[in-house]
Amino acid sequence: MSTETGPAVGAEPRGHRIAPGPKGLPFLGNMPQFARNPLAFFERLRGHGDLVQWRFGPNSCVFVADPECIGELLTETERSFDQPALGIAFRTVMGNGVVVARGTEWRRKRSLVQPSVRPKQVRSYAATMAGSTVELADTWSGGERIDIKREMAALTQRIAVRTIFGVDTPADAEAMGRAMDVAQAEIGKEFAGIGALLPDWVPTPGRARIRKAAAVIDAEVGRVVARHRDGGDERPDLLSRLLTAVDETGAHLTDEEIRDETVTLYIGGHETTSSTLVWAWYLLSRNAGARAALHEELDRVLGDREPGFDDYARLVYAQAVVKETLRLYPTIWLVTGVAKEGARIGGVAMPEGTRVWSSQWVTHRDERWFPEPEAFRPERWDADAGDEIAEYAWFPFGGGPRVCLGTRFAMVEAVLILAVLARRFELEVDPGTVGPVPTLTLQPDREVLATVRARQRVRRAG
Ligand code: HEM
Repeated sequence: MSTETGPAVGAEPRGHRIAPGPKGLPFLGNMPQFARNPLAFFERLRGHGDLVQWRFGPNSCVFVADPECIGELLTETERSFDQPALGIAFRTVMGNGVVVARGTEWRRKRSLVQPSVRPKQVRSYAATMAGSTVELADTWSGGERIDIKREMAALTQRIAVRTIFGVDTPADAEAMGRAMDVAQAEIGKEFAGIGALLPDWVPTPGRARIRKAAAVIDAEVGRVVARHRDGGDERPDLLSRLLTAVDETGAHLTDEEIRDETVTLYIGGHETTSSTLVWAWYLLSRNAGARAALHEELDRVLGDREPGFDDYARLVYAQAVVKETLRLYPTIWLVTGVAKEGARIGGVAMPEGTRVWSSQWVTHRDERWFPEPEAFRPERWDADAGDEIAEYAWFPFGGGPRVCLGTRFAMVEAVLILAVLARRFELEVDPGTVGPVPTLTLQPDREVLATVRARQRVRRAG
Protein backbone atom coordinates (compact mmCIF):
# COMPACT_ATOMS: atom_id res chain seq x y z
CA MET A 1 0.00 0.00 0.00
CA SER A 2 1.01 3.60 -0.31
CA THR A 3 2.46 4.89 2.95
CA GLU A 4 3.53 8.31 1.75
CA THR A 5 4.24 10.58 4.65
CA GLY A 6 4.01 14.31 4.35
CA PRO A 7 2.14 17.33 5.47
CA ALA A 8 -1.35 16.80 6.84
CA VAL A 9 -4.07 16.45 4.21
CA GLY A 10 -6.59 19.09 5.25
CA ALA A 11 -3.88 21.57 6.27
CA GLU A 12 -2.70 21.88 2.69
CA PRO A 13 -3.56 24.99 0.74
CA ARG A 14 -6.46 24.21 -1.59
CA GLY A 15 -5.26 22.60 -4.82
CA HIS A 16 -2.05 21.19 -3.35
CA ARG A 17 -2.05 17.44 -3.11
CA ILE A 18 -0.27 15.22 -0.66
CA ALA A 19 -2.06 12.06 -1.86
CA PRO A 20 -3.11 11.21 -5.40
CA GLY A 21 -6.74 11.64 -6.34
CA PRO A 22 -9.23 12.85 -8.93
CA LYS A 23 -9.71 16.47 -9.90
CA GLY A 24 -12.87 18.08 -8.62
CA LEU A 25 -15.11 21.01 -9.53
CA PRO A 26 -14.75 24.38 -7.79
CA PHE A 27 -16.74 24.34 -4.54
CA LEU A 28 -18.54 21.03 -5.28
CA GLY A 29 -15.35 18.98 -5.50
CA ASN A 30 -16.21 15.37 -6.42
CA MET A 31 -19.67 15.48 -4.86
CA PRO A 32 -21.56 15.16 -8.20
CA GLN A 33 -19.69 11.95 -9.16
CA PHE A 34 -20.22 10.55 -5.69
CA ALA A 35 -23.92 11.38 -5.74
CA ARG A 36 -24.45 9.91 -9.22
CA ASN A 37 -23.07 6.47 -8.40
CA PRO A 38 -21.08 6.10 -5.18
CA LEU A 39 -20.01 2.50 -5.87
CA ALA A 40 -18.56 3.35 -9.28
CA PHE A 41 -17.00 6.51 -7.84
CA PHE A 42 -15.25 4.57 -5.07
CA GLU A 43 -14.03 2.03 -7.64
CA ARG A 44 -12.53 4.88 -9.66
CA LEU A 45 -10.86 6.29 -6.53
CA ARG A 46 -9.25 2.92 -5.98
CA GLY A 47 -7.60 3.35 -9.40
CA HIS A 48 -5.60 6.25 -7.86
CA GLY A 49 -4.07 4.12 -5.10
CA ASP A 50 -4.72 2.79 -1.61
CA LEU A 51 -4.87 6.20 0.05
CA VAL A 52 -6.63 8.75 -2.11
CA GLN A 53 -7.54 12.38 -1.55
CA TRP A 54 -10.81 13.82 -2.83
CA ARG A 55 -13.28 16.53 -1.98
CA PHE A 56 -16.88 16.34 -0.83
CA GLY A 57 -17.96 19.92 -1.42
CA PRO A 58 -15.40 22.11 0.31
CA ASN A 59 -14.36 19.31 2.70
CA SER A 60 -11.12 17.42 2.24
CA CYS A 61 -11.64 13.66 2.32
CA VAL A 62 -9.45 10.59 2.17
CA PHE A 63 -10.47 7.22 0.79
CA VAL A 64 -8.61 4.14 2.01
CA ALA A 65 -8.75 0.79 0.23
CA ASP A 66 -5.94 -1.08 1.94
CA PRO A 67 -6.89 -3.53 4.74
CA GLU A 68 -4.18 -2.23 7.07
CA CYS A 69 -5.46 1.34 6.73
CA ILE A 70 -9.05 0.16 7.12
CA GLY A 71 -8.00 -1.65 10.30
CA GLU A 72 -6.46 1.59 11.61
CA LEU A 73 -9.64 3.51 10.84
CA LEU A 74 -11.91 0.95 12.49
CA THR A 75 -9.83 0.13 15.56
CA GLU A 76 -9.07 3.81 16.22
CA THR A 77 -12.75 4.80 16.12
CA GLU A 78 -13.62 6.78 19.25
CA ARG A 79 -9.90 7.31 20.11
CA SER A 80 -8.59 8.97 16.92
CA PHE A 81 -11.74 9.15 14.78
CA ASP A 82 -15.28 10.24 15.59
CA GLN A 83 -18.15 8.76 13.70
CA PRO A 84 -19.93 11.59 11.88
CA ALA A 85 -23.13 12.72 13.60
CA LEU A 86 -26.19 11.03 12.12
CA GLY A 87 -28.92 13.13 10.57
CA ILE A 88 -32.39 14.00 11.76
CA ALA A 89 -33.96 10.92 10.13
CA PHE A 90 -31.87 8.52 12.23
CA ARG A 91 -32.39 10.54 15.39
CA THR A 92 -36.15 10.76 14.96
CA VAL A 93 -36.44 6.98 14.71
CA MET A 94 -33.56 5.63 16.80
CA GLY A 95 -33.54 8.42 19.40
CA ASN A 96 -30.20 8.36 21.16
CA GLY A 97 -29.66 4.59 20.91
CA VAL A 98 -26.28 2.93 20.56
CA VAL A 99 -25.97 3.67 16.81
CA VAL A 100 -26.66 7.40 17.28
CA ALA A 101 -24.88 7.97 20.63
CA ARG A 102 -21.27 9.14 20.72
CA GLY A 103 -18.48 9.23 23.34
CA THR A 104 -19.21 8.35 26.98
CA GLU A 105 -22.90 7.94 26.35
CA TRP A 106 -22.24 5.46 23.55
CA ARG A 107 -19.88 3.46 25.78
CA ARG A 108 -22.54 3.16 28.50
CA LYS A 109 -25.23 2.14 26.02
CA ARG A 110 -23.04 -0.37 24.27
CA SER A 111 -22.17 -2.08 27.57
CA LEU A 112 -25.88 -2.24 28.47
CA VAL A 113 -27.01 -3.66 25.12
CA GLN A 114 -24.13 -6.06 24.49
CA PRO A 115 -25.17 -8.78 26.98
CA SER A 116 -28.54 -9.17 25.22
CA VAL A 117 -26.90 -10.20 21.93
CA ARG A 118 -24.08 -12.37 23.33
CA PRO A 119 -23.66 -15.81 21.71
CA LYS A 120 -25.28 -17.42 24.78
CA GLN A 121 -28.38 -15.29 24.30
CA VAL A 122 -28.43 -15.81 20.53
CA ARG A 123 -28.79 -19.53 21.30
CA SER A 124 -32.12 -18.72 22.96
CA TYR A 125 -33.34 -16.77 19.91
CA ALA A 126 -32.39 -19.55 17.48
CA ALA A 127 -35.57 -21.58 18.06
CA THR A 128 -37.66 -18.53 17.05
CA MET A 129 -35.48 -17.99 13.98
CA ALA A 130 -35.81 -21.59 12.80
CA GLY A 131 -39.47 -21.91 13.87
CA SER A 132 -40.55 -18.77 12.02
CA THR A 133 -38.79 -20.05 8.89
CA VAL A 134 -40.47 -23.44 9.17
CA GLU A 135 -43.84 -21.61 9.29
CA LEU A 136 -42.91 -19.91 6.01
CA ALA A 137 -41.60 -23.11 4.41
CA ASP A 138 -44.92 -24.82 5.22
CA THR A 139 -46.73 -22.24 3.09
CA TRP A 140 -44.50 -22.73 0.00
CA SER A 141 -45.07 -25.39 -2.61
CA GLY A 142 -43.27 -26.53 -5.74
CA GLY A 143 -43.99 -24.45 -8.86
CA GLU A 144 -45.07 -21.40 -6.87
CA ARG A 145 -43.84 -17.96 -7.95
CA ILE A 146 -42.42 -15.72 -5.21
CA ASP A 147 -40.95 -12.26 -4.80
CA ILE A 148 -37.82 -13.09 -2.78
CA LYS A 149 -37.33 -9.53 -1.46
CA ARG A 150 -40.86 -9.49 -0.10
CA GLU A 151 -40.63 -13.00 1.40
CA MET A 152 -37.28 -12.39 3.11
CA ALA A 153 -38.35 -8.96 4.42
CA ALA A 154 -41.55 -10.41 5.92
CA LEU A 155 -39.70 -13.34 7.46
CA THR A 156 -36.87 -11.32 9.03
CA GLN A 157 -39.44 -8.80 10.23
CA ARG A 158 -41.40 -11.54 11.99
CA ILE A 159 -38.19 -12.85 13.56
CA ALA A 160 -37.09 -9.35 14.66
CA VAL A 161 -40.46 -8.53 16.24
CA ARG A 162 -40.59 -11.89 18.04
CA THR A 163 -36.97 -12.00 19.26
CA ILE A 164 -36.70 -8.34 20.23
CA PHE A 165 -40.19 -7.58 21.55
CA GLY A 166 -41.52 -11.05 22.29
CA VAL A 167 -44.66 -9.93 20.43
CA ASP A 168 -46.62 -12.66 18.81
CA THR A 169 -50.09 -11.35 18.29
CA PRO A 170 -50.43 -10.61 14.57
CA ALA A 171 -52.11 -7.22 15.10
CA ASP A 172 -49.30 -5.88 17.36
CA ALA A 173 -46.59 -7.28 15.15
CA GLU A 174 -48.19 -5.89 12.00
CA ALA A 175 -48.68 -2.34 13.25
CA MET A 176 -45.14 -2.21 14.61
CA GLY A 177 -43.63 -3.83 11.51
CA ARG A 178 -45.44 -1.46 9.16
CA ALA A 179 -44.30 1.65 11.03
CA MET A 180 -40.72 0.32 11.20
CA ASP A 181 -40.77 -0.35 7.45
CA VAL A 182 -41.91 3.21 6.68
CA ALA A 183 -39.27 4.62 9.03
CA GLN A 184 -36.53 2.45 7.56
CA ALA A 185 -37.44 3.25 3.95
CA GLU A 186 -37.47 6.98 4.69
CA ILE A 187 -34.13 6.81 6.51
CA GLY A 188 -32.71 5.06 3.43
CA LYS A 189 -34.08 7.73 1.09
CA GLU A 190 -32.76 10.53 3.27
CA PHE A 191 -29.35 8.84 3.55
CA ALA A 192 -28.97 8.38 -0.20
CA GLY A 193 -30.67 11.55 -1.39
CA ILE A 194 -30.57 15.27 -1.07
CA GLY A 195 -32.01 15.02 2.48
CA ALA A 196 -28.54 14.17 3.78
CA LEU A 197 -27.36 17.63 2.74
CA LEU A 198 -30.30 19.63 4.08
CA PRO A 199 -30.12 21.22 7.53
CA ASP A 200 -32.22 19.47 10.17
CA TRP A 201 -34.79 22.26 10.38
CA VAL A 202 -35.83 22.04 6.70
CA PRO A 203 -39.26 20.37 6.55
CA THR A 204 -39.63 17.77 3.78
CA PRO A 205 -42.47 15.33 3.05
CA GLY A 206 -40.08 12.45 3.85
CA ARG A 207 -39.27 13.92 7.25
CA ALA A 208 -42.98 14.33 7.96
CA ARG A 209 -43.53 10.63 7.13
CA ILE A 210 -40.65 9.68 9.45
CA ARG A 211 -42.17 11.68 12.33
CA LYS A 212 -45.53 10.01 11.76
CA ALA A 213 -43.96 6.54 11.69
CA ALA A 214 -41.90 7.35 14.81
CA ALA A 215 -45.10 8.33 16.67
CA VAL A 216 -46.65 4.93 15.85
CA ILE A 217 -43.44 3.16 16.90
CA ASP A 218 -43.40 5.11 20.21
CA ALA A 219 -46.97 4.09 20.97
CA GLU A 220 -46.50 0.43 19.99
CA VAL A 221 -43.19 -0.02 21.78
CA GLY A 222 -44.57 1.84 24.79
CA ARG A 223 -47.46 -0.64 25.03
CA VAL A 224 -45.16 -3.66 24.75
CA VAL A 225 -42.72 -2.30 27.37
CA ALA A 226 -45.60 -1.60 29.78
CA ARG A 227 -46.90 -5.15 29.30
CA HIS A 228 -43.44 -6.58 29.99
CA ARG A 229 -43.03 -4.49 33.14
CA ASP A 230 -46.46 -5.59 34.37
CA GLY A 231 -45.89 -9.24 33.54
CA GLY A 232 -42.77 -9.35 35.66
CA ASP A 233 -41.85 -12.89 34.66
CA GLU A 234 -38.63 -13.63 32.78
CA ARG A 235 -39.24 -14.00 29.05
CA PRO A 236 -36.77 -15.18 26.45
CA ASP A 237 -36.80 -11.96 24.41
CA LEU A 238 -34.26 -9.20 24.01
CA LEU A 239 -36.51 -6.56 25.56
CA SER A 240 -36.70 -8.56 28.82
CA ARG A 241 -32.91 -8.71 28.92
CA LEU A 242 -32.68 -4.94 28.45
CA LEU A 243 -35.23 -4.37 31.23
CA THR A 244 -32.97 -6.15 33.72
CA ALA A 245 -29.68 -4.65 32.47
CA VAL A 246 -27.85 -2.31 34.89
CA ASP A 247 -24.98 0.10 34.27
CA GLU A 248 -21.93 0.44 36.53
CA THR A 249 -23.83 2.73 38.92
CA GLY A 250 -26.56 0.08 39.26
CA ALA A 251 -29.06 2.15 37.23
CA HIS A 252 -31.54 0.51 34.84
CA LEU A 253 -32.36 1.82 31.37
CA THR A 254 -35.25 4.29 31.38
CA ASP A 255 -38.35 3.57 29.27
CA GLU A 256 -37.12 6.06 26.68
CA GLU A 257 -33.72 4.35 26.53
CA ILE A 258 -35.38 0.95 26.20
CA ARG A 259 -37.46 2.28 23.31
CA ASP A 260 -34.35 3.71 21.62
CA GLU A 261 -32.30 0.52 21.96
CA THR A 262 -35.01 -1.89 20.84
CA VAL A 263 -35.83 0.23 17.80
CA THR A 264 -32.10 0.58 17.07
CA LEU A 265 -31.63 -3.19 17.16
CA TYR A 266 -34.63 -3.67 14.91
CA ILE A 267 -33.51 -1.07 12.34
CA GLY A 268 -29.87 -2.19 12.56
CA GLY A 269 -30.68 -5.83 12.06
CA HIS A 270 -33.74 -6.20 9.90
CA GLU A 271 -32.98 -4.87 6.42
CA THR A 272 -29.27 -5.79 6.65
CA THR A 273 -30.10 -9.45 7.20
CA SER A 274 -33.04 -9.60 4.82
CA SER A 275 -31.03 -8.07 1.94
CA THR A 276 -28.13 -10.46 2.63
CA LEU A 277 -30.54 -13.36 2.19
CA VAL A 278 -31.92 -11.98 -1.08
CA TRP A 279 -28.37 -11.75 -2.45
CA ALA A 280 -27.59 -15.24 -1.17
CA TRP A 281 -30.58 -16.75 -3.03
CA TYR A 282 -29.63 -14.84 -6.16
CA LEU A 283 -26.01 -16.07 -6.03
CA LEU A 284 -27.04 -19.64 -5.23
CA SER A 285 -29.45 -19.63 -8.13
CA ARG A 286 -26.66 -18.56 -10.51
CA ASN A 287 -24.06 -21.03 -9.15
CA ALA A 288 -25.09 -24.67 -9.50
CA GLY A 289 -21.87 -25.98 -7.88
CA ALA A 290 -22.32 -23.95 -4.70
CA ARG A 291 -26.00 -24.90 -4.58
CA ALA A 292 -25.16 -28.60 -4.84
CA ALA A 293 -22.51 -28.30 -2.12
CA LEU A 294 -25.00 -26.58 0.17
CA HIS A 295 -27.65 -29.24 -0.45
CA GLU A 296 -25.12 -32.00 0.17
CA GLU A 297 -24.23 -30.46 3.54
CA LEU A 298 -27.86 -29.96 4.55
CA ASP A 299 -28.76 -33.56 3.65
CA ARG A 300 -25.72 -34.91 5.47
CA VAL A 301 -26.03 -32.82 8.63
CA LEU A 302 -29.82 -32.55 8.94
CA GLY A 303 -31.35 -35.37 6.94
CA ASP A 304 -35.09 -35.22 7.63
CA ARG A 305 -35.05 -32.88 10.58
CA GLU A 306 -35.22 -29.11 10.94
CA PRO A 307 -32.06 -27.28 12.08
CA GLY A 308 -31.52 -25.86 15.57
CA PHE A 309 -28.84 -23.75 17.20
CA ASP A 310 -26.42 -26.68 17.65
CA ASP A 311 -26.38 -27.23 13.90
CA TYR A 312 -25.00 -23.77 13.27
CA ALA A 313 -21.42 -24.86 14.02
CA ARG A 314 -21.83 -27.94 11.81
CA LEU A 315 -23.23 -26.05 8.83
CA VAL A 316 -19.83 -24.73 7.77
CA TYR A 317 -20.68 -24.52 4.08
CA ALA A 318 -23.88 -22.60 4.80
CA GLN A 319 -21.80 -20.19 6.92
CA ALA A 320 -19.37 -19.84 4.00
CA VAL A 321 -22.28 -19.07 1.65
CA VAL A 322 -23.33 -16.21 3.94
CA LYS A 323 -19.75 -14.90 4.27
CA GLU A 324 -19.16 -15.06 0.52
CA THR A 325 -22.50 -13.32 -0.09
CA LEU A 326 -21.47 -10.56 2.32
CA ARG A 327 -18.17 -10.28 0.45
CA LEU A 328 -19.80 -9.73 -2.94
CA TYR A 329 -22.82 -7.80 -1.70
CA PRO A 330 -21.88 -6.18 1.62
CA THR A 331 -25.21 -4.78 2.76
CA ILE A 332 -23.38 -2.05 4.67
CA TRP A 333 -21.11 -0.77 1.95
CA LEU A 334 -19.20 2.09 3.54
CA VAL A 335 -17.75 3.13 6.89
CA THR A 336 -16.41 6.57 7.67
CA GLY A 337 -14.70 8.46 10.45
CA VAL A 338 -13.78 12.07 11.14
CA ALA A 339 -10.18 12.59 12.23
CA LYS A 340 -9.54 13.96 15.70
CA GLU A 341 -6.36 15.83 16.50
CA GLY A 342 -3.29 13.64 15.96
CA ALA A 343 -5.03 10.96 13.85
CA ARG A 344 -2.88 9.10 11.33
CA ILE A 345 -3.65 6.56 8.62
CA GLY A 346 -0.96 4.56 6.85
CA GLY A 347 1.66 6.86 8.39
CA VAL A 348 0.00 9.99 6.97
CA ALA A 349 -1.17 12.64 9.42
CA MET A 350 -4.87 13.45 9.04
CA PRO A 351 -5.66 16.96 10.21
CA GLU A 352 -8.57 17.33 12.58
CA GLY A 353 -11.87 17.23 10.67
CA THR A 354 -10.64 15.19 7.68
CA ARG A 355 -13.31 12.68 6.74
CA VAL A 356 -11.87 9.23 6.05
CA TRP A 357 -13.93 6.78 4.02
CA SER A 358 -13.59 3.12 3.19
CA SER A 359 -15.92 0.86 1.28
CA GLN A 360 -16.54 -2.85 1.72
CA TRP A 361 -17.74 -2.89 -1.88
CA VAL A 362 -14.28 -1.89 -3.17
CA THR A 363 -11.97 -3.83 -0.85
CA HIS A 364 -14.06 -7.03 -0.95
CA ARG A 365 -13.71 -7.03 -4.75
CA ASP A 366 -9.97 -6.36 -4.84
CA GLU A 367 -8.13 -9.19 -6.59
CA ARG A 368 -5.07 -8.76 -4.33
CA TRP A 369 -7.13 -10.16 -1.45
CA PHE A 370 -9.66 -12.24 -3.36
CA PRO A 371 -8.43 -13.88 -6.59
CA GLU A 372 -11.09 -13.79 -9.30
CA PRO A 373 -13.04 -11.42 -7.12
CA GLU A 374 -16.27 -11.51 -9.16
CA ALA A 375 -16.64 -15.28 -8.69
CA PHE A 376 -19.00 -16.56 -5.99
CA ARG A 377 -16.84 -19.13 -4.28
CA PRO A 378 -17.83 -20.12 -0.73
CA GLU A 379 -14.77 -22.43 -0.71
CA ARG A 380 -12.67 -19.33 -0.05
CA TRP A 381 -13.89 -19.63 3.51
CA ASP A 382 -12.68 -23.22 4.08
CA ALA A 383 -11.00 -23.42 7.48
CA ASP A 384 -7.46 -23.40 6.00
CA ALA A 385 -8.03 -21.02 3.09
CA GLY A 386 -10.07 -18.60 5.22
CA ASP A 387 -7.12 -18.09 7.60
CA GLU A 388 -5.08 -16.64 4.75
CA ILE A 389 -7.49 -13.79 4.06
CA ALA A 390 -5.89 -10.54 5.25
CA GLU A 391 -7.44 -9.00 8.33
CA TYR A 392 -9.87 -6.22 7.35
CA ALA A 393 -9.88 -7.28 3.68
CA TRP A 394 -13.37 -8.53 4.65
CA PHE A 395 -15.26 -6.31 7.05
CA PRO A 396 -19.02 -6.55 6.40
CA PHE A 397 -19.66 -6.07 10.13
CA GLY A 398 -17.16 -3.22 10.52
CA GLY A 399 -14.55 -3.72 13.24
CA GLY A 400 -12.96 -2.17 16.32
CA PRO A 401 -14.94 -0.72 19.22
CA ARG A 402 -18.05 -0.10 17.11
CA VAL A 403 -18.11 -3.48 15.42
CA CYS A 404 -21.65 -4.67 14.70
CA LEU A 405 -23.36 -5.77 17.90
CA GLY A 406 -25.54 -8.18 15.95
CA THR A 407 -22.79 -10.13 14.12
CA ARG A 408 -23.56 -13.43 15.80
CA PHE A 409 -27.31 -12.83 15.69
CA ALA A 410 -27.18 -12.10 11.94
CA MET A 411 -24.92 -15.04 11.06
CA VAL A 412 -27.02 -17.54 13.02
CA GLU A 413 -30.26 -16.13 11.61
CA ALA A 414 -29.06 -16.18 8.00
CA VAL A 415 -27.63 -19.69 8.27
CA LEU A 416 -30.76 -21.12 9.92
CA ILE A 417 -33.06 -19.48 7.35
CA LEU A 418 -30.96 -20.83 4.47
CA ALA A 419 -30.84 -24.25 6.10
CA VAL A 420 -34.60 -24.58 6.67
CA LEU A 421 -35.54 -23.37 3.19
CA ALA A 422 -32.73 -24.88 1.09
CA ARG A 423 -33.23 -28.27 2.74
CA ARG A 424 -36.68 -28.39 1.17
CA PHE A 425 -36.52 -26.07 -1.84
CA GLU A 426 -34.43 -24.55 -4.60
CA LEU A 427 -35.23 -21.00 -5.65
CA GLU A 428 -34.85 -20.52 -9.39
CA VAL A 429 -34.39 -16.78 -9.82
CA ASP A 430 -35.70 -15.41 -13.14
CA PRO A 431 -33.01 -14.82 -15.80
CA GLY A 432 -31.22 -11.48 -15.96
CA THR A 433 -28.65 -9.63 -13.94
CA VAL A 434 -29.66 -8.06 -10.66
CA GLY A 435 -27.54 -5.02 -9.86
CA PRO A 436 -26.88 -3.27 -6.53
CA VAL A 437 -28.37 0.07 -5.47
CA PRO A 438 -26.53 1.69 -2.58
CA THR A 439 -29.08 3.20 -0.22
CA LEU A 440 -28.60 2.82 3.53
CA THR A 441 -28.04 -0.84 2.67
CA LEU A 442 -27.03 -2.41 -0.64
CA GLN A 443 -30.35 -3.26 -2.25
CA PRO A 444 -31.17 -5.23 -5.42
CA ASP A 445 -32.10 -2.79 -8.20
CA ARG A 446 -35.34 -4.58 -9.03
CA GLU A 447 -37.76 -7.22 -7.85
CA VAL A 448 -36.10 -10.60 -7.47
CA LEU A 449 -38.71 -13.06 -8.68
CA ALA A 450 -38.23 -16.80 -8.47
CA THR A 451 -39.93 -20.13 -9.00
CA VAL A 452 -39.93 -22.45 -6.00
CA ARG A 453 -38.74 -25.98 -6.84
CA ALA A 454 -39.34 -28.70 -4.27
CA ARG A 455 -36.18 -30.72 -3.76
CA GLN A 456 -36.17 -34.52 -4.05
CA ARG A 457 -36.73 -36.31 -0.75
CA VAL A 458 -33.75 -35.71 1.43
CA ARG A 459 -31.68 -38.57 2.81
CA ARG A 460 -31.46 -39.37 6.51
CA ALA A 461 -28.62 -37.88 8.53
CA GLY A 462 -25.72 -40.10 9.51
C1 HEM B 1 -26.00 -9.15 7.72
C2 HEM B 1 -26.44 -8.38 8.68
C3 HEM B 1 -25.70 -7.20 9.26
C4 HEM B 1 -24.70 -6.44 8.73
C5 HEM B 1 -24.03 -6.57 7.36
C6 HEM B 1 -24.36 -5.44 9.73
C7 HEM B 1 -23.33 -4.50 9.58
C8 HEM B 1 -22.97 -3.57 10.54
C9 HEM B 1 -21.86 -2.65 10.43
C10 HEM B 1 -20.91 -2.55 9.24
C11 HEM B 1 -21.83 -1.90 11.56
C12 HEM B 1 -20.82 -0.81 11.91
C13 HEM B 1 -21.20 0.47 11.27
C14 HEM B 1 -20.12 1.53 11.41
O1 HEM B 1 -19.08 1.30 12.03
O2 HEM B 1 -20.34 2.61 10.86
C15 HEM B 1 -22.94 -2.33 12.39
C16 HEM B 1 -23.25 -1.78 13.62
C17 HEM B 1 -24.31 -2.20 14.39
N1 HEM B 1 -25.15 -3.28 14.15
FE1 HEM B 1 -25.09 -4.49 12.53
N2 HEM B 1 -25.17 -5.60 10.81
C18 HEM B 1 -25.99 -6.67 10.58
C19 HEM B 1 -26.94 -7.18 11.44
C20 HEM B 1 -27.24 -6.68 12.68
C21 HEM B 1 -28.22 -7.23 13.58
C22 HEM B 1 -29.03 -8.51 13.33
C23 HEM B 1 -28.28 -6.41 14.66
C24 HEM B 1 -29.12 -6.52 15.91
C25 HEM B 1 -29.62 -7.62 16.40
C26 HEM B 1 -27.32 -5.33 14.45
C27 HEM B 1 -27.08 -4.29 15.32
C28 HEM B 1 -26.07 -3.36 15.17
C29 HEM B 1 -25.82 -2.29 16.13
C30 HEM B 1 -26.61 -2.02 17.40
C31 HEM B 1 -24.71 -1.57 15.64
C32 HEM B 1 -24.07 -0.33 16.28
C33 HEM B 1 -22.90 -0.70 17.18
C34 HEM B 1 -22.20 0.51 17.77
O3 HEM B 1 -22.25 1.59 17.19
O4 HEM B 1 -21.60 0.34 18.84
N3 HEM B 1 -26.71 -5.54 13.23
N4 HEM B 1 -23.62 -3.36 11.76
